[in-house]
Amino acid sequence: MAGNWKMYKTAGDTTVFFERFLPLVATSTHADIAICPTYVNIPAAVAAAGNSRVGIGAQNLYWAKEGAFTGEISGPMLKAAGCEYVIIGHSERRQYFGETEETVLKRTLAAIEHGLKPIVCVGERLEERESNNTETVLRAQFDGGIAPLTAEQFAQITIAYEPVWAIGTGKTATPDMAADAHRFIRGLVAARFGDAAAAATRILYGGSVKPDNVKGLMAQPEIDGALVGGASLEAASFASIVNF
Ligand code: PGA
Repeated sequence: MAGNWKMYKTAGDTTVFFERFLPLVATSTHADIAICPTYVNIPAAVAAAGNSRVGIGAQNLYWAKEGAFTGEISGPMLKAAGCEYVIIGHSERRQYFGETEETVLKRTLAAIEHGLKPIVCVGERLEERESNNTETVLRAQFDGGIAPLTAEQFAQITIAYEPVWAIGTGKTATPDMAADAHRFIRGLVAARFGDAAAAATRILYGGSVKPDNVKGLMAQPEIDGALVGGASLEAASFASIVNF
C-alpha cells in the first residue's frame, strides 16, 4: 500500500502526518506500507517513520550516479537519505516531463543498481481506452520499460497499473476493469519471465483509490495493493485504505 504525495506538504506537515498515521497502522502487518513524499521532505519522513513498518520512497530519480545534471537527484543520494522505494514512470511524469519507455528503463535499472525498489507505473489514457487500445498501450509500456530487465532485476520491481483517466478525477476503474488490466499485465509477465515470476509479482492499482472503494478493488485476487494519491495525504484516510 503506497502513498504518492505528489507536490504536496511541507516538512512540518510530513511530521504531523506520521504522528497521526503510525499509531493507526502499528499492527497492520498484512501489507508493506510506503509513503513517497517530495524529495525535500524525505529526511523528515525518514526521521518520523523511525523504526516503524512504513518505508519511504521517492517519486523519481535520475539514472546517473552524480554529475553536472542541475536539478536532478540520483539513486545513491536517495539510498543515503533512507529511501527504500522509488516511483518510476508515473503518468504525470510521462505527460508533463517527457518520460518515455527508454527513460523509464534507465531509471529502473539505476534504482535496482543502487538498492532501491522501483514501483514502475503503466496505464492508458482515456482516448486510448476509448479507441480500444488499452492492451496495445500496456504492451508497449511493458515491452519498452520492463521486458528488457533480467529475471533477477524483474524480481525487484512492483508494477502499478494506473489508468490515466482515473487519476485525480474521482473516476475509479471498476474492480472488474482493473482486474482485467492486471490479468493482461500478469500475462505479459508470464510470457516474458515465466509463470512463477507472474504469480510472485505485485501489481498495484492506482487511480482515485479511496477508503470507500478500496475493499471492492482488493477483493479482486489480481489486485495486490494500491498506489494512492489524494487519499494518502490525510492520515486517517490512508490508514483506512491500508487497513481495508
Ligand atoms: P489519485 O492518484 O489517487 O489522486 O487518483 C493516484 C496516483 O497518481 O498515483
